[in-house]
Amino acid sequence: MKTKLIVIFLVCTFFGYGQKKQANKVVKIKPKAEFVAELMSKMTVEEKIYQTVQFTSDGTVTGPKSGDNFITRIQQGKVGSILNATGAKETREIQRINLENSRLKIPLLFGHDVIHGYKTIFPINLGMASSWDPKAVELAARVAASEASSAGVHWTFAPMVDIARDARWSRVSEGSGEDPFLGIQMAIANVKGFQGADLSKNNTILACAKHFAAYGAAEAGRDYNTVDMSERVLRETYLPAFKAAAEAGVKTFMTSFNEISGVPSTANKFLLRNVLKGEWNFDGVVVTDYTGITELVAHGFATDEKNAGELAMNAGIDMEMVGGVYMNFLKKSYDEGKVSLAQIDDACKRILNVKYDLGLFEDPYRYSDVNREKETIYKPEFLNASLEVAKKSLVLLKNSNQILPLKSSQKIAFVGPLVSDEYNMIGSWAALGDRNGFATSVKEGVVNYLRKSTNATFDEGVEIQSVNRDKMQKALDNAKNADVIVAVMGERENMSGEAASQTTIDLPGLQKEFLAELKKLGKPIVLVLLNGRPLTLTWENENMDAILEAWWPGTRGGDAIAQTLFGANNPNGKLPMSFPRKVGQLPLYYNHKNTGRPYLGLSDPEQKYKSQYTDVGNSPLYPFGFGLSYTTFNYSNLKISSDKINFNEKVKVSVDVSNTGNYDGQEVVQLYVRDLVGSVTRPVKELKGFEKIDLKKGETKTVTFEISSEDLKFYTLDMKYEAEAGRFDVFIGTNSDTENKVSFELVK
Ligand code: BGC
Repeated sequence: MKTKLIVIFLVCTFFGYGQKKQANKVVKIKPKAEFVAELMSKMTVEEKIYQTVQFTSDGTVTGPKSGDNFITRIQQGKVGSILNATGAKETREIQRINLENSRLKIPLLFGHDVIHGYKTIFPINLGMASSWDPKAVELAARVAASEASSAGVHWTFAPMVDIARDARWSRVSEGSGEDPFLGIQMAIANVKGFQGADLSKNNTILACAKHFAAYGAAEAGRDYNTVDMSERVLRETYLPAFKAAAEAGVKTFMTSFNEISGVPSTANKFLLRNVLKGEWNFDGVVVTDYTGITELVAHGFATDEKNAGELAMNAGIDMEMVGGVYMNFLKKSYDEGKVSLAQIDDACKRILNVKYDLGLFEDPYRYSDVNREKETIYKPEFLNASLEVAKKSLVLLKNSNQILPLKSSQKIAFVGPLVSDEYNMIGSWAALGDRNGFATSVKEGVVNYLRKSTNATFDEGVEIQSVNRDKMQKALDNAKNADVIVAVMGERENMSGEAASQTTIDLPGLQKEFLAELKKLGKPIVLVLLNGRPLTLTWENENMDAILEAWWPGTRGGDAIAQTLFGANNPNGKLPMSFPRKVGQLPLYYNHKNTGRPYLGLSDPEQKYKSQYTDVGNSPLYPFGFGLSYTTFNYSNLKISSDKINFNEKVKVSVDVSNTGNYDGQEVVQLYVRDLVGSVTRPVKELKGFEKIDLKKGETKTVTFEISSEDLKFYTLDMKYEAEAGRFDVFIGTNSDTENKVSFELVK
């Protein structure tokens, strides 16, 4: 590795705490291994331990703050990283306090939850996954990294790559849904977007694959709850997106709050040492989740905090997020021989390595640049990117009689609690996104789109969650005179996200009752949903004319929705999670097993004694991969290049997709595989490929996928990851429900 001669620019700006002028220096540093080894040779055991300590600043916290003021700890040189400090000015000042007080002047690492944007907010991650467009997701992460880095943030705790099959679990909003294959593509896109090609650039930041692992499988969808699963399911469903993130070069991992089969992730040697640092050769930093080490005591896995720290360090935790256990007890544990110097050294080295990668030893202030921050935040091209990504994330769930797109000549009554709302538009975990006065509401989006049209009315009618009916009548009166009603409804941003699990996932409050009143007016109704999880929409599906799932679409969400409602954007999103008919169907996912008594349909005379409920069918209301367009697509001519291949060959499967409707559009062509017989049972379908294509009105394109034995691998009875000879069905279609199939045999 080359020695870098870095000429550091001079920023002479005044910052708080005594308004001190700071000048950066010309710094020449050695290659990483040499530099870090030399630095570590000067460090005491305590100083090495202090690198593993992360404290929260006074910013957003998701749990108890640990005791003393973080500034005091920094002054004592006891901190390696700070979370939730943001802003070029603030981070610069905190860094100064650290550098001026600590013996070895090791720069602090600043982390923050930049989940779907920093200031310019993109759709929530479940929304972005609905784009089925990894390039769009990469762009969103790139923009987020540019803004966050300019505000002094070195490290985001994203992406969350947890697979989620239970919409009661509130954090489904932060991930990419139920499918491992889609999850992999989104994980890679995020890592590329945040970290870029060169971490030492001042507009790239460390990404963090979280929450390792199986956090989304919490029992009964209750956040932080227990997970008990086989190693096969863990490896096949929950780990692939993490592995993909590691292979894409993600620099950090965060452990999950849950236990897996009796062992909390934060002390899980199998996960951290065997799989992550062993099999996958991960050489980055593993950080706990918030107070994760302390929680080992409540789990009943550690006798006390000191013991918890030992278990965590021995399992492979490099940095502790809040809690102070490493800071308070690890030296004592080392003196008693309960943790080794080699382990402390390894953790410290990993942390110093990422600080080096970011270029912090060359210039600890390089990301905290007030001028760059000012120029970067809310750049017009970033806001435009947020609009474009939002347009790709909207999913059209129903559109009877082509009620959409609307015509500007129509008299439209916009109603619903979210119709003028900006606050919720950017969703949960929206970092420093402005909730009032900056995001576009649906009303603003409509006014922007229609310019001065006076035809539309806007009335809340009801609140998101209350029993107040006072405003309902006025809204109904306006709606009475309209040609069409657009109801903008959904959840409050904090109804999804962390610690917001629910047993019912209906539209909250009086919203459904209000819809029923509107329905009595006999006008067509379009329901636009702003929410963070799949909802139960069985009644809405029967009674509404059109439904547009807009998730929480971000800073330019109102514009994206308006442009879509009026046809300037043709919806092209597809669901990354199944929508249940009833909450009792959860967990619900398309890639389930067949069972020995497969479901035939409730009306089938043979149906009794099958794996089913007697009141509701097994199928979802809207399946995984589902989403309509204003145009229609026809699939034909499904072909396979051979009905037999060996383990070294590939088979080509192609299909013709035609745009048979009246609009140009985009379609996500999806390929699923079923392995008919295995040494262990296999899912009824598994997504193995997709392609999002543009099709002009009247146009036909042939889409071709290749399948090799590599794509057919799974964990066999002996837990070997390999493909087995036998027959496979291959499905290509517009969503996971497709029965459009061909088959082939894999032979030895
Ligand atoms: C969440 C993490 C988050 C952390 C820091 C925790 O409560 O589970 O996802 O990164 O807080 O804010």
